[in-house]
Amino acid sequence: THPLRLGIAGLGTVGIGVVKIVRQKAALLEARTGRPIEITAVSARTRRKDRGVNLDGYAWEDDPVKLAQREDVDVYVELMGGSNGPAKASIEAAIAAGKDVVTANKALLALHGQALAESAEAVGRVIRFEAAVAGGIPVVKALTEGLAGNEITRVMGVMNGTCNYILTRMESAGLSYEEVFKEASDLGYLEADPTLDVGGIDAGHKLALLASIAFGTKVDFEAVRLEGIERITSEDIAAAADMDYKIKLLGVAQMTGRGLVQRMTPCLVPDSSPLGQLQNATNMVVIEGDSVGQIVLRGAGAGEGPTASAVMADVLDIARGIRLSTFGQPAASLKPAKVAEVSVP
Ligand code: NAP
Ligand code: HSE
Repeated sequence: THPLRLGIAGLGTVGIGVVKIVRQKAALLEARTGRPIEITAVSARTRRKDRGVNLDGYAWEDDPVKLAQREDVDVYVELMGGSNGPAKASIEAAIAAGKDVVTANKALLALHGQALAESAEAVGRVIRFEAAVAGGIPVVKALTEGLAGNEITRVMGVMNGTCNYILTRMESAGLSYEEVFKEASDLGYLEADPTLDVGGIDAGHKLALLASIAFGTKVDFEAVRLEGIERITSEDIAAAADMDYKIKLLGVAQMTGRGLVQRMTPCLVPDSSPLGQLQNATNMVVIEGDSVGQIVLRGAGAGEGPTASAVMADVLDIARGIRLSTFGQPAASLKPAKVAEVSVP
């Protein structure tokens, strides 16, 4: 059997997590897919950096576009980030060169995922992005496979680990915003531009992707009503705690009689509720389907291991010959959503 050969661009928190899994679990991955999974080439900004793993034996490319086009790469794994620039250019190059693509880049997908998926489909390739939504929680698979027989009525939850980390650590450890922010950074949770996290934008990107998958509609990030946690103070958190409430950055996507509602806003939730009990970088996604009722998924929403776990789910699907679109249906068949007017209080 032919090995499945990966080219990995981006050797940061997630990329190194993927390298570790491929190196450390080779026998398990082969047993599960029937073929060896190998890394043939890698790319990052700088070659001279100790990344804590042995990268000997992998070809090095300074330019991710060149990596994406290499003949010895079957799957281009984009883990650099950024909603434009080299991430977009290299994914386009990979598709043009006939490669499948796996990415965790929700910022790029929320803006260009529709077009990229359509161009991949047009040449018989797939672009998969389980890791882009809710870190280690296999929510994309839940929607596109386990719940495929349902009409989904609502998807909601906590989808940004950094914000949940900041909100819970400020309360439970009595730390300052600056101290907690440093911890989140050390744990690898933050986006390269952390204003995406605290501004609710990263969670909004994820919500727009989930809404598209859930409702079979085109990704419409522009229609997400967005508010982050930047204006939440320690006093707000303490006042909520006095009333036995917590503040959570909550996303809701719902198909209503008026059209699609997507909003990402800080909300008060009761302390004792499952959402109120979410600690640190844990995410929770609640899905409601007409046949199944309510499903609750909870797990690590960010960090090396959890995110690499989700990247590997896509890699393994490709190794097994599963060519399902991450949207659960061909991207070209997604319909524009009618956007409901949302009143702003
Ligand atoms: P990161 O730690 O900042 O790593 C980014 C990597 O990309 C670095 O190795 C960097 O190279 C490389 N890179 C950046 N720009 C490049 C360029 N122009 N050319 C070549 N290499 C370049 O980021 P991360 O946290 O792993 O996140 C990667 C992606 O996963 C992002 O799209 C992020 O949104 C997504 N994601 C992250 C998490 C998480 O928990 N961290 C979870 C879900 C999704 P150097 O190392 O040489 O600087
Ligand atoms: N910065 C993101 C978060 C990474 O904190 O949730 C996971 O998508």
